[in-house]
Amino acid sequence: MSASIDIDVALGERRYPIRIGAGLLDDGAWRATLRGRHALVVTDDRVAPLYLARVRDALGTLAHDAVVLPAGESAKTLDNAARVLDALARLGASRDAAVVALGGGVVGDLAGFAAATWMRGIDFVQLPTTLLAMVDSSVGGKTGVNLAAGKNLVGAFHQPRAVFIDTATLATLPQREYAAGLAEVVKYGAIGDAAFFAWLEANADALNARDEDALAEAIAFSCRCKAGVVARDEREEGERALLNFGHTFGHALEAEQGYGALLHGEAVAIGMVLAASLSSRLGRAPAEDTERLLHLLSRFGLPVEPPRAEPDALLARMRLDKKNVSGRLRLILWRGIGNAEIVPDVDDAAVRGVLAAP
Ligand code: NAD
Ligand code: GLY
Repeated sequence: MSASIDIDVALGERRYPIRIGAGLLDDGAWRATLRGRHALVVTDDRVAPLYLARVRDALGTLAHDAVVLPAGESAKTLDNAARVLDALARLGASRDAAVVALGGGVVGDLAGFAAATWMRGIDFVQLPTTLLAMVDSSVGGKTGVNLAAGKNLVGAFHQPRAVFIDTATLATLPQREYAAGLAEVVKYGAIGDAAFFAWLEANADALNARDEDALAEAIAFSCRCKAGVVARDEREEGERALLNFGHTFGHALEAEQGYGALLHGEAVAIGMVLAASLSSRLGRAPAEDTERLLHLLSRFGLPVEPPRAEPDALLARMRLDKKNVSGRLRLILWRGIGNAEIVPDVDDAAVRGVLAAP
């Protein structure tokens, strides 16, 4: 990719930039968005050896420190958020300090949550290094941590000050993590854009080969889509819930398997197939569309069948989903490719049926 791409997230009076390009970690532009005298970098122990020195170099003489968390979903805990808050205290961070999230969605969600709560909210900048974080989690201000009882049950809406996506960092991303990010890219086509879904089908080989142009197009499309949804519904009072297509099933699978066994993107891939399959069983969508979804996800090397799990245990976890109202399941289903919908009061037996025999 040659030139960088700029996208604005506009939230009424507030706005922040997303910049996409190769080499942005070393660029002074993200550093220029920091306002105060302190910065705390939060990263993990796989990303730190690869990219932390460059981020520290870019910070130059600004007073800063770094917290390096263990890599992976199991690190997304309240204890680790407390570690970040303690580090802010040691740094003497005042309200003009910033947290810099360098890594995937785990680091971004946790660092953002710490930034949301330190002195009731300070700036944070997202420097995403996984495809999943680039196309989804770094944008939109959902921050938080997991509890044993469920994913992302503790959190806050807190928008980043800026998102700088250095696409060159994808060169070191393991294949399994890369594919997990593609699941969230597929989601944007599945929920709202049949033409983009068809583009993904036509460009699956290029994306599997990490072709720069195809990747730039996929990342930019995803960020534009997410920025648009967040601009229209920042607090998930309506449309934003559509971004959770496959997630109620996926979150239940992640928690039930033990965090980290299934990658988040893998759980979402399986969850989208379950949601599509349930939609056609309920007579809401054509079964051929489930087949197309399943085929595309499989071409990206993603799992499409749930691991063995007790349907009632999964259903119990799905009941803790934040979208539910008065204890009734409220799911994101679809009418077919490009046309997701919020369905209140989904029948337990139908859900149990799809979980028992997808
Ligand atoms: P992750 O943060 O665990 O990163 C995946 C792995 O890749 C980690 O081991 C990490 O160390 C490694 N890694 C990261 N960048 C690398 C690079 N460039 N080179 C080599 N290794 C690298 O996982 P993820 O898939 O990025 O994020 C998943 C999390 O995001 C979940 O907790 C999910 O709930 C959350 N999420 C949040 C939102 C949101 O809107 N806030 C949206 C989607 C997902
Ligand atoms: N990933 C879902 C959302 O940001 O709303």
